[in-house]
Amino acid sequence: MSPTGVKIVGVGHHAPARIVTNEDLEQWLDTSDEWITTRTGMKRRHWVSNDEATSDLALIAAREALAFAGLQPLDIDCYILCTVTPDYYFPATACVVAARLGAKDRPAFDISIACSGFIYGLTVAAGLVRSGVYRRVMLIGAETLSKILNKDDRSTAILFGDGAGAVILERSEEDSFLSAELGADASRPELLYVESSGSRSPIDYNAIEEKRNLIAMQGREVFKFAVKNMIAATDTALAKAQLTKADVTFLIPHQANKRIIDAAAHYLEVPAEKVVTNIAEYGNTSAASIPIALSESVRAGKLSPGDVIVFVAFGGGLSWGAVAWRWAA
Ligand code: ACO
Repeated sequence: MSPTGVKIVGVGHHAPARIVTNEDLEQWLDTSDEWITTRTGMKRRHWVSNDEATSDLALIAAREALAFAGLQPLDIDCYILCTVTPDYYFPATACVVAARLGAKDRPAFDISIACSGFIYGLTVAAGLVRSGVYRRVMLIGAETLSKILNKDDRSTAILFGDGAGAVILERSEEDSFLSAELGADASRPELLYVESSGSRSPIDYNAIEEKRNLIAMQGREVFKFAVKNMIAATDTALAKAQLTKADVTFLIPHQANKRIIDAAAHYLEVPAEKVVTNIAEYGNTSAASIPIALSESVRAGKLSPGDVIVFVAFGGGLSWGAVAWRWAA
């Protein structure tokens, strides 16, 4: 019988060259390194140049993952890309990346669920592999949030960065996928959204004048929601996998705010050295934050076979999710 498990066999990540420090932001915003560091844990973020797009970052991360796994683009059966900053409304950015890799005829599609993108994507990709539909799936989280940032709004401009992370999932005898818990509550989209960006309110001259085509967020509300839902999603994912908090080797959370991560880690009783954080370097890269953190961890040799990892995120939607995953050799 063919195996029905899944494991990760390749990882890669990339961030654009331009670094924007807290001190750089002080040049045009009424803010300070001290405020940003204490309230968010962020020191730097990477922003693309005007002529760089999401697929440019994704392509480099994807190539790194292929090289890591010793695979060619046509060895991948399906490409999935999670983003809220696609190159175009359509074609999907996954199609653009697959084409640029030369993966002709391979299915490719995007997932749009903001910062929860990688968690939803991992659940879908693992499902496709475990059900036998595909042998190998490339899953990419990639964002250029700097393109939809209101650079004059100090409450959001400081938070977001650009980047991409990629993983390759492959059918395997062992099964890394232990459980998933996903959720969404869109009753108050205005808590975190881009008001003028689609069919409800297409971008027009007035929208641009009023900056309604850029990210708007009610930070305090989102903060409370984040802590509550990250904890609840992790608890449920662990229960579904018949695990307890004590079984968690590493927590790889979405990098939105160090205080949110610390609050979730404290509740879950995961010591600081087992919580993967790179927020000081990248800020919040939305769907890219978890695969970047994972790629860095794997490349640094942090993970060992058998380790139980909880990936957990929340974001626009509002949405949330956690996946429990056993690392395999
Ligand atoms: N520098 C200095 N002061 C600031 C800044 C800044 N960059 N930003 C806000 N302030 C001020 C506010 O104006 C306010 O001043 P006031 O008291 O005079 O009115 C004061 O600081 C406190 O503002 P709060 O919003 O209450 O600050 P808070 O401690 O909540 O921190 C933050 C704000 C960092 C945005 C926090 O609420 C947060 O991280 N929220 C979650 C955001 C998040 O995770 N978003 C995820 C997005 S995921 C996705 O899907 C895209």
